[in-house]
Amino acid sequence: MKYSKYSVVIIGSGIAGMYAALKLVEHTYLPDGVLLISKHKLGDGNSKYAQGGIVGVMRENPSDSCVSHINDTLKAGAGLSDINAVKFISESSDEVIHDLMGYGIEFDKNDKGALSFTLEAAHSIRRILHSGGDATGRRIDEGLCKCVLESDDITVYEDTLAVELLISKEGECRGVIVYNSISDEYEVIYSAHTILATGGIGQLYKYTTNPAGATGDGIVLAYNAGAELRDLEFIQFHPTSLAVEGGENRFLISEAVRGEGAKLIDKSGHEFMAKYHDKRELAPRDIVTRAINSEMHLNHLDKVYLQTSCIDRSTILNRFPTIAGVCRKNGIDITKTPIPVSPAAHYFMGGVKTDLNGCSSVKGLYAIGEVSSTGLHGANRLASNSLLECVVCAWSLADYLSFANLVAPKMIDETIKYTIEQYEQNIDDSIYDTACLKQELQQLMWENVGIIRDEKGLSNALKQIKYLKSIFRQTKRCLNMEEYEYRNMLATAELITEAALNRKESRGAHYRSDYPQTEDIGEHSLTKKGESKIAYQILH
Ligand code: FAD
Ligand code: SIN
Repeated sequence: MKYSKYSVVIIGSGIAGMYAALKLVEHTYLPDGVLLISKHKLGDGNSKYAQGGIVGVMRENPSDSCVSHINDTLKAGAGLSDINAVKFISESSDEVIHDLMGYGIEFDKNDKGALSFTLEAAHSIRRILHSGGDATGRRIDEGLCKCVLESDDITVYEDTLAVELLISKEGECRGVIVYNSISDEYEVIYSAHTILATGGIGQLYKYTTNPAGATGDGIVLAYNAGAELRDLEFIQFHPTSLAVEGGENRFLISEAVRGEGAKLIDKSGHEFMAKYHDKRELAPRDIVTRAINSEMHLNHLDKVYLQTSCIDRSTILNRFPTIAGVCRKNGIDITKTPIPVSPAAHYFMGGVKTDLNGCSSVKGLYAIGEVSSTGLHGANRLASNSLLECVVCAWSLADYLSFANLVAPKMIDETIKYTIEQYEQNIDDSIYDTACLKQELQQLMWENVGIIRDEKGLSNALKQIKYLKSIFRQTKRCLNMEEYEYRNMLATAELITEAALNRKESRGAHYRSDYPQTEDIGEHSLTKKGESKIAYQILH
C-alpha cells in the first residue's frame, strides 16, 4: 500500500471542490500541500451540466435585494431553511461571484454590455446569472479546471475513488483511503483536514438528470465516519427532463425555458398548470413536478409537453443553444415542436450537516456543495441556489482553514491501522452483475421512494433494499469502482428510505399520500450511525 500526506485533501472536483482548492492555495501556506481527487476526470460531476445559472444578488442589479432573495429561498424551503445560512449565502453572493469572475469566468451580458439576469420558478425577480446561454455549469467548470491545472500548488488525482475515511480512536478524521480504478491500487492519505465535495445521489433513481457518478459516496463516507446527516428524505425531482427513449439519464430542459415564457401542455395541447397553482409554470418546483406527475397518471401517459414556439425564435435559439442542439439531435425543432418532458430525480437537499464554515460533526471532516446540508435549501431548493451555495461555502471553508493547523498528522492509532488492514486483505470472490443490480435498485427507488410516497411503498422498498444488501457481501474492500458505487447506492438508499418512512407529513419535496398534511412546526431529521432511531430537531 502506498502512503502519502497532505495538509488538506478534497474529495470531489466539481465546482465546490475545485473552487475550494483554488481559494485555499491563493493566500494560505500549506506545508503539506493540497490534494484534489476525482473518481473520474477533473471537473466531472453534476456541476458541468448546470444550465439555468447561478443566483447572485448583485450590485449591478439594483432592483434586487438580499431581503427579497432570502424571502424567496425561505418560502421555497417550506419551513426547514436555516435563516442564518440563507442570509449568509445571499449576502456573500455579490462578493463571491465577482471573485469567481476574477478566475476568468464570464457571465452573459445584454446588448448594452450589462450583466443579463434570467428568471426561474419561485424567484420574485430576474436574478440568475448565466453563461454561454444555457451552459453555465460547463463554463464555470471549464474555467476552474483550467485554473486548477495551471496551479503548481494543487495535486490532482483522477480516476481515484475515496473508499473510507480514517477515523481515529477519538473519532477525529485523519485522512482517507483511496482506490485508483486504472492501476487497481490503494493509497492511504493522511491529512489534517478532509473535505467532502462529492455531489449528489441522482443515480439512485431510474430517471435522473445526474450523470453516472452521482451515487451518494460522500453520504456513506460521512455516515461510516460517525458524522451527523440531516434531512435525507428531501430529494428534488425536476419537472422537465427530456422524455425520449434511450438511456435512463435524462437531459434537462431548464426551468429558465419556462422563465422565458414556455407553457406546459397535455397531449391534446391544453395548458394545465392553472389548475394547480396561480403562478402556473413558475410555481415552486415540487408543485410543478407533482402537477405533471398527476397529469401523466390521469392520462395514462409517461410524458407531457413543453410548448416553446410561443417564445421568439431568435431569443430561444440564442438563450438555449445546448437545449436546442440536443432536441434537434432527437428530431425536435424547439422553435416549432413541443418538447416531450417528464420529471426526473435532480438534487439532494439532505446531506452532511455542517455549519457555515463547512465543519461537520466530526473533527477534521468538512462538507461543501451538494453533499452538504447547510440549511440553505430546507425541504425544497430554489432554482440556481445550488451553484451559489457551492462557491460561497467553498470560499468560507478556505477562509476558515487559513487559520487552522495545516500540518498533516504524523501519528496514527490502532483504530486507523485496523481500518487500513482491511483493505490489504483478500476479498470475497463472488462475481456480481452490478449493472443489473443497480437497475433493480433504481427501479425500486423510482417506484417507492419517488415523487409520491406512502407507508406501504416505503416499507416494501426498505425490505427489498435490506435483501439486496444481504446478497451483496462486499461491505469493505470491493473488486472495482462499480462495486464500490453499488455498495454506496445501497447504503444511501437505505438511509433515505428510512428517513422518508419516518417523516409522517408532507413538506416541500417530500410528499406522503398517506400523510398529506404539513405539521405546523418544521423539524429537521437527523441520522447518525449507531443511533437506531432518526432524531428530530425543532427549528427555532
Ligand atoms: P459535483 O459537481 O457533482 O461534483 C462531485 C465530484 O465528486 C465529482 O468530481 C465526482 O467525481 C466526485 N466524487 C464523487 N464521489 C467520489 C468518491 N467516492 N471519490 C472521489 N471523488 C468522488 N444548480 C444551480 O444552482 N443552477 C443550475 O442551473 C443547475 N442546473 C443543473 C442541471 C443539471 C442537469 C444538474 C444535474 C444539476 C443542476 N444544478 C444546478 C445543481 C448543481 O449543478 C449541483 O448541485 C452542483 O453543481 C453540485 O456541485 P458539487 O461540486 O457539489 O458536486
Ligand atoms: C434548471 O436549469 O432548470 C436547473 C436549475 C437548478 O437546478 O437550479
